[in-house]
Amino acid sequence: MSFIPYYSDLVHPAVLISSIAIFHTFIAHFSIGMGLYVIICEYFAYKKNNMVLLEYTKKNSSLILFIATVLGALTGVGIWFVISIIAPFATSTLIHNFVWFWASEWVFFVIEIVTILLYYYLWGKIEKKLHLIIGIIYFISGYCSLILINGIISFQLTPGKWLETKNVWDGFFNPSFLPSTIARTGFCLILASIFSTLIISFLKNSDIKKYTGRISTIFIVVGALFCIVGTYLWVQSIPENVRSQLSGGNTTLTHFFHYYIITGVILIALSIILELIFYKYFNIVFSIILLCVGMTAFSYFEFTRERVRKPFLVRDYVYANGIPLDKIDEINTTGILEYTNVILKRKELTDVQKGELIYTSECYSCHSINGFNNLRSKLEGLKAEDIFYVIDGIGYNPLMPPFVGIESEKKYLAEFLQDRLSNK
Ligand code: HEC
Repeated sequence: MSFIPYYSDLVHPAVLISSIAIFHTFIAHFSIGMGLYVIICEYFAYKKNNMVLLEYTKKNSSLILFIATVLGALTGVGIWFVISIIAPFATSTLIHNFVWFWASEWVFFVIEIVTILLYYYLWGKIEKKLHLIIGIIYFISGYCSLILINGIISFQLTPGKWLETKNVWDGFFNPSFLPSTIARTGFCLILASIFSTLIISFLKNSDIKKYTGRISTIFIVVGALFCIVGTYLWVQSIPENVRSQLSGGNTTLTHFFHYYIITGVILIALSIILELIFYKYFNIVFSIILLCVGMTAFSYFEFTRERVRKPFLVRDYVYANGIPLDKIDEINTTGILEYTNVILKRKELTDVQKGELIYTSECYSCHSINGFNNLRSKLEGLKAEDIFYVIDGIGYNPLMPPFVGIESEKKYLAEFLQDRLSNK
């Protein structure tokens, strides 16, 4: 059975989850990349006995402290809260399949929080080597979290051999696991570089601006290489029919993917020019521009990744509306109402009310009536009989699951949609 405890046409779950998730992943990648950034800077500051560089490093660590612990933790908890109310079945599938992976992830998260607190508050109070080791532990635990979560997210797109074996390791080390780990490592380095400019822009001494600008440029160049290689391999790792969607097969997806590449290239070029050549004039405006372009490129990648998975939540296993593929035959004989709603089906419902239940179980995860990906623009003005035929054919669109259920339910859904679309 599946039901959606959260139902709002105005603030659609997809909008809610994508805004929190994109912000969270942006912060999460930054926190890891910046972990590496500060330990490298700290190492060189000690080696060259450069107190100004050390001070700069300390400021960067305060940036991690604030962003990772406050914003990262809040949005991380926010994601769990939101997905559990808008997609309980999906959340449960992911938790049950990867329970020990999530448990390990939470352990790494606690280590991250403890070490970054120690790292920040113990500056100058403990032996240098020990301080650096705490920084290294922070970075490693953050990177392990990335590997774990990336394994689970990439599994949703390419579950690979898991579909036959149901072995959790097959699911984790799936075909797109390595490519996306490489690309995400690149994102971490790039984000550390562009966030570091927030601190660079306030530095007065032009020598240190030049030096730190160079470190940030190295991060962006290496990060770009990881991203290019990772993205290329990622495209190769996804199934052929999905790949063709990215290269013209589906207009929206193709646009998302192209915009990711274009904004990514602009970001890298702009960062190199500003950080390496115009470092003297580097100010907060430049920094905010870089962050905005970075956030845009990153959002396009995450949107592409999310959309390319459609119509599945886990490819070839469960649809985005929570209907498992192995239940389709059963639902096609007994009906979606029977499958979906244990409590409500006992009540006497009108046809339109039944249609609404079918809509929430089969369409609402990707559509609204008036807002996000709305059905008004697609079906307004059609009679229930015409909508019936449209519903019959939705499975032909590669981004949509087929209608699942019995014939009378198609009729209820069509009646509900006509009813709702004729009322503004
Ligand atoms: C997995 C997500 C998903 C689900 C579930 C879904 N749709 Fe869609 N639907 C889409 C997307 C995405 C588009 C836009 C397609 C495109 O850009 O080509 C779309 C387009 C449409 C269209 C426009 C015609 C077309 O084929 O492009 C109609 C009508 C439609 N959906 C109806 C429905 C109905 C009715 C349901 C429920 C029975 C439903 N959809 C379930 C994702 C979904």
